[in-house]
Amino acid sequence: MSLQSGESNNNVVNQAVVAVFLRCVECAALYPGTGDPPRYRCECGGVLDVEAAFHHPTQQPALQEEYETLTATVSDFTPLAGAHWRQLFDERATLPPTWSTSADTLVPDRSGVWRYRELILPIPEQYIVSRPEGNTGLYPVGRENCGNRREGHRQIGHYAGLDNFFLKHEGENPTGSFKDRGMTVGITMAHLLGARAVACASTGNTSASLASYAAQLGLPCIVFLPAAHVAGGKLAQSLAYGARTIQIEGDFDDAMRLVEQVCNEMGIYLLNSLNPFRIEGQKAIGFELLQQLDWHVPDWLVLPAGNLGNTSAIGKAFRQALQLGLISRLPRIAAIQAAGANPFYRSFVNGFSRRERVQAQTIATAIKIGNPVSYKRALRVIEESNGVVEEVTDEEILAAKTVIDRSGIGCEPASAATLAGARKLVEHGIIKQDEFVAGILTGNLLKDSQTGIPQQKQGGAIEASIEAVRLALSDLALK
Ligand code: F0G
Repeated sequence: MSLQSGESNNNVVNQAVVAVFLRCVECAALYPGTGDPPRYRCECGGVLDVEAAFHHPTQQPALQEEYETLTATVSDFTPLAGAHWRQLFDERATLPPTWSTSADTLVPDRSGVWRYRELILPIPEQYIVSRPEGNTGLYPVGRENCGNRREGHRQIGHYAGLDNFFLKHEGENPTGSFKDRGMTVGITMAHLLGARAVACASTGNTSASLASYAAQLGLPCIVFLPAAHVAGGKLAQSLAYGARTIQIEGDFDDAMRLVEQVCNEMGIYLLNSLNPFRIEGQKAIGFELLQQLDWHVPDWLVLPAGNLGNTSAIGKAFRQALQLGLISRLPRIAAIQAAGANPFYRSFVNGFSRRERVQAQTIATAIKIGNPVSYKRALRVIEESNGVVEEVTDEEILAAKTVIDRSGIGCEPASAATLAGARKLVEHGIIKQDEFVAGILTGNLLKDSQTGIPQQKQGGAIEASIEAVRLALSDLALK
């Protein structure tokens, strides 16, 4: 069913989204980038990937061909091309964080997504819907690269067994997770297409992000959540931002199946990472990480993996950065799954000879997913980056979370899979202790105030007197 109610603005859309195509990751069929109704899957059932032409704003005609095709192989010209791109993004990153006062448009350079807009979604700037997002912290936490006055942070490096280790905290995005990066692009597309309503299925973070961006734009939003399996902070966000919140008696995989059907039936724009434009926004994690590292390439990128959108997105960013000469080699990607929600790990272990599905069970509710939508996209990323997939138990996740929390950085349970996985891969000798490793923390500590956090005893308060305070601190031995 059509997305739009009244007059179609297809002409506007078609002019805005020129040279954007969707390619099936299964059979390589090619579709136009936009359409009404929108297409989320190929005729063969495969998921779709955005293909777009990249144009540097100050592009010289001699370099035109170099920039024009995504499928270009690395050529002699790319180092030069890479220098042009690096200069562009570095100049934008140094601009003061201001809003334009002469127009109601956001200065897109301020966003850690739209700063890279030529590589994200080449559309006229007036269509961009942004908070802005991104610009998240990158913490040196290795035994050697940690620096002074960071003894707490260095404990993370000790725990992982790594000398040169960085954590990028995507929980510092506006709604507290990396999902905002994909959502700014997804909601921009919803706006451009004239959608009447948006929807998603979620383990909690996607829904919080969508609810927020939909509210910003004034669009009705419907979120489908697996009942009783969403962390309190995330559910609170979706309700507070005013999303119609539908709890399903089932798991995420059930919610995902239902939302896809209901969106197609009712003409609602679907904003799960099945929507390929979400993936384009999440690529910015990879671009921003490289830029923060002054375009030095880590040996490894470690991240938690559930529906596999993020693995696909960051891997795609690195692939494109290589094609454009922004970097000269690919980091190896290590996708970490919870042992009770490990279909991708199982496929990896059997050499990707078959796609696995499981009934997911883990305390890390964000990644409690048994049938990941982006399986095929992520498989390509692991293969081309000579990557690995690892699994970690709930105990390992909780232990790693405690280390991250006690360091003062803090994260939600699923994010701690990054540290638990890095530690395991070092123990197994797959990551070497002196290799340069970057890890992603995907969500904020405040998302889940229960799991893995010491809870105050009921009635644990003391009397408001100095005697009671002295007694309470009587065992404190200060050095
Ligand atoms: N970490 C957190 C905090 C997440 O919320 C998610 C996914 C992931 C990791 C895994 O990323 O799915 O791209 O492999 N959360 C989704 C949601 C499923 O609905 O919020 P992925």
